[in-house]
Amino acid sequence: MLRQKNRWRLSLATTVTALMAGIAIAGPENVEFPENYASTFVRYTTVDKPDRDPPIVRFMYINADALATAQPNEPLPQGTIVVMEDHEAELTDNGEPLRDANGRFIPTDEITNVFVQQKEQGWGEEYSEEKRNGEWEYAWFQPDGTRQDRSMDSCFECHQQVADQDFTFTAWPFITRIKGE
Ligand code: HEC
Repeated sequence: MLRQKNRWRLSLATTVTALMAGIAIAGPENVEFPENYASTFVRYTTVDKPDRDPPIVRFMYINADALATAQPNEPLPQGTIVVMEDHEAELTDNGEPLRDANGRFIPTDEITNVFVQQKEQGWGEEYSEEKRNGEWEYAWFQPDGTRQDRSMDSCFECHQQVADQDFTFTAWPFITRIKGE
C-alpha cells in the first residue's frame, strides 16, 4: 500500500517536473484524434480480416505530408500519422462475408474502431529500450473520436515484429511499392 502510494507520488512529481520543463510525457494522450482523416488523409490500402468475428475490413490512411516526404526503405518521417479504420463487412443471409468480383470483402459504413499510430521527434525517449517502438505512440478511439481508455502495451509488443519496417505492417511496404526499392 505504502509502496503504491510512493510510486504514485513519484510519478506525480515526474509529471509536474516534465510539465514545468515543457517535456512531453509518453503515453497515448499525445496522439490526438485526427479529425477529418477520411477526407484529408490518403487512403492507401485495405485489409480483409476473415478471422475476426464478425469479419471486418480495415481501411488504412496516411497523412499527405508524410506520404509526400517518405522515402522507400527509410524510416517514415517525423509527423507521420497512420490511421486504421475497422469496418464491419457485408454478410450474406448465412452470416458469411459477401465478396466482390475480386473475392474481396464489401465494407459497410459501420465503423467499429479507429486505431492510430503517430511518430514525433522525442516521443519514444521515455520508454525502455525493450518497449520502445522508435518514436511511435499508439492510440485507440471509437469512431466518434472518444478515446478508449486502455493500455497500449499490446500495440507496442505486437508492432515490434516489424521493427525493421519502422514498426508498421502496411505503411512501409506501401511506400516501398509506390516509390521504388
Ligand atoms: C497481435 C498483433 C497486433 C496488435 C496487438 C496491434 N496491432 Fe496494429 N497491426 C497489426 C497488423 C498485423 C497490422 C496490419 C493490418 C492487419 O493485418 O490487420 C496492423 C496495423 C496497424 C495500423 C496500420 C499501420 C500499419 O502498421 O500497418 C495501425 C495504425 C495500428 N495497427 C495500430 C494499432 C494500435 C493502436 C494497437 C493497440 C491498441 C495495435 N495496432 C495493436 C498487428 C497488431
